[in-house]
Amino acid sequence: MDIEKTLSQMTLEEKATITSGYGPWATPAIDRLDIPKVTMSDGPHGMRAMKEEGTADLRESLPATCFPTAACFGSSWDIQLAASIGEAIAEEARELGYNLVLGPGMNIKRTPLCGRNFEYISEDPVLTGEMAGAFVEGSQSKGVGATIKHFACNNSEFERMSLNVQVDERPLRELYLAAFERVIRRARPWAVMGAYNRVNGEFACEHPRLLSEILKGEWLFEGLVMSDWTAVNDRVSAIAAGLDLEMPGPSDANDRRLAEAVRAGELDESVLDERVRRVLYVADLAGKSGINTAQRPAHPDPETLTRHHALARRAAAQSTVLLKNEGDLLPFEPTSTSRLAVIGRFAETPRFQGGGSSKVNAARTETVCSALGISGEPEGVHSDSRPQVYEHAEYAPGYDEHGHADARHIDGAVRAARAADAALLVVGLPDAVESEGFDRSDLELPEGQTELIRAVVAEQPRTAVIIVAGSVVRVEEWIDEVPAVALAGLGGQAGGGAIVDVVTGEVAPSGRLTETMVRRLEDSAAWLNYPGENGAVHYGEGLFVGYRWHDESGVAPRYPFGHGISYSRFEYGALSLSAGGSDGRGGRSEESESGEGAESGPSIAMRDTDALSLRVPVRNAGSRSAAEVVQLYIEPPKGRLRRPRRELKAFSKLHLAPGTEGVAEFSLSRRDFACFDPGFGEWISESGEYRVHIGSTSADIRRRATIDFESTVEPRRALNEWSPMREWLEDERGRRLFSEAIGEQLIDHLSGGRPAEREMFLNIPLKKVPQLTGGRVSEEAIAGMLDGLAASP
Ligand code: BGC
Repeated sequence: MDIEKTLSQMTLEEKATITSGYGPWATPAIDRLDIPKVTMSDGPHGMRAMKEEGTADLRESLPATCFPTAACFGSSWDIQLAASIGEAIAEEARELGYNLVLGPGMNIKRTPLCGRNFEYISEDPVLTGEMAGAFVEGSQSKGVGATIKHFACNNSEFERMSLNVQVDERPLRELYLAAFERVIRRARPWAVMGAYNRVNGEFACEHPRLLSEILKGEWLFEGLVMSDWTAVNDRVSAIAAGLDLEMPGPSDANDRRLAEAVRAGELDESVLDERVRRVLYVADLAGKSGINTAQRPAHPDPETLTRHHALARRAAAQSTVLLKNEGDLLPFEPTSTSRLAVIGRFAETPRFQGGGSSKVNAARTETVCSALGISGEPEGVHSDSRPQVYEHAEYAPGYDEHGHADARHIDGAVRAARAADAALLVVGLPDAVESEGFDRSDLELPEGQTELIRAVVAEQPRTAVIIVAGSVVRVEEWIDEVPAVALAGLGGQAGGGAIVDVVTGEVAPSGRLTETMVRRLEDSAAWLNYPGENGAVHYGEGLFVGYRWHDESGVAPRYPFGHGISYSRFEYGALSLSAGGSDGRGGRSEESESGEGAESGPSIAMRDTDALSLRVPVRNAGSRSAAEVVQLYIEPPKGRLRRPRRELKAFSKLHLAPGTEGVAEFSLSRRDFACFDPGFGEWISESGEYRVHIGSTSADIRRRATIDFESTVEPRRALNEWSPMREWLEDERGRRLFSEAIGEQLIDHLSGGRPAEREMFLNIPLKKVPQLTGGRVSEEAIAGMLDGLAASP
């Protein structure tokens, strides 16, 4: 499409129309100008294509593969896996006739109570950005655009359509926008979805700073910004602010208002043109993708569905986080365990996704029971029957469909556990608790589940508990009594099969926590500033969200961010570093003496213009195929700005056969050492000694290194009359001006003296010096210094 030519042929009315939806799931086509429509559908975990075009009934969608939810596949820390899920959802989108997928969701998990945490990836922006970026690349490699959402600060569902999020610049930039920025710069998504909430007073979809200055201006986003569904309150303001498309449509009254605003001179037509260009840009991409948007098959191809079911099972198994495994209780290998008690209704009536717009009409479901080849199938749910995995396996529901366990349920469960060699107990949250549109009220498991767990493990010491939930649940009352516990998350339609793969030992779990598992709700970072009051929430914890808070406060979590164990063991070799050129090659290099025992590790000097590459060999020293997630954290030196003790900057997942070795390779550059300084409005990386920590979890650090980092551009705060004397005296020119004005002797006198007096003097602003020195420094001298400063700023 010749976008400029097409634009020049459009009428004002057509421009207004094309910047709002045609029904709930498309942009309008304009046949006269050969502009194709762009079709779109939720969502992030699988296609939610409507049976009838133009309807929006959440319960009426075509069957499709339901992949593990973002919270679940995020726990895999596996970039390739995220890309494969993006590709697979795109394949189904193509077959069903859709151009754009409304996902992935990538808001930061600020509180474990957010009802939509199951739809988000992590509390950390690097992990979120890397995984979401891979998903976007996977999807777009198939010609289907991705829509990253919800931009920005939709970190809870409480009053989401009006809540005013009050957030400071640093957490905004370093946490809440950082993940979006990463994806925009690296993966070039076709679209961004604006959030419902307000950010510092303005609605996210009517926010000039977020949409025009930052997203399009600074990050050079070239795609389409659409609103969340009904998030536009004032279309003219939204268009003026930088929103390109109001969803859903039709929005005739707003289209008319928009055209009138242009006619009345309230909105420059060139601004509207800019928005239309972006709709045309995506329409052009959609047109070129070869997707037949007119076709409406009843479901994706059966062969596609079979392949994707296998991917969904592999993904969920890879994402399972083994929290503890005393005495190597798991796996329960069928060769050594012949009688297994399978307890928990979710093993038979599975809970595998969350509620709301991401809900997929799963093409099939595989439950723990069906994957084990034992009965207990709910009526009407298709699943394939398999040969029995264990010689004897008995199922007991343990709790009702709401997750509640009473004495009768518990007795049945205990009986089954007693008769077995081992018990597999599936617990978790029911459907009604985790959904878009509202938050959870606590972190508790449903009534009676704690008693159920304790009763079963008291009877059967070989009990493994599997938790099915989209976010953190409180485990304090029972976890010390249970030898093996895994978090399966909401694993999608094959989640039951994935649990079986992990329990039987077919797959060694390799998921890692993406969200700190707190001991109690009160320990979470946002506790005092959630949910907000009088229409606003203040992100008072600032930068200290998730592990950043626990590291800083010393409040121990139950399990830290990045935690997860394997059935295997991994040995780390010597860490080597090299810094130089922009790719880190051809420069200086350092290798640690020996891997083990090198407490402080190697060190290397680098400048902010260099790239730093790091390599660490890792060997699977166990006897099973398994995967290790190597995590790299940076600890900054103490500087002018308060910074979290350490932050995740890179990670690498290595899949290794027993006895084999792989190499985790990382490349870091200036930005990885930087933080956002609102004083300058830019990312700064101060010179100093940075420590690198590389480990298997955030608490199991295996290798360390020291980076002597030199900044070639160290921005300095401009001096003015309010700058404290410390800054005046530390600044070469400031000191010279002061010395010229009052003489070195007086400076020595004022800044000498007893330590307390000296500190007090260094803390006072220049302006107050005459008053506080009893006239020894005159007003004129100070005025002269300020003139000198102004003469050569
Ligand atoms: C959700 C979006 C979703 C949209 C369309 C909204 O309620 O917040 O994530 O894409 O509906 O279903």
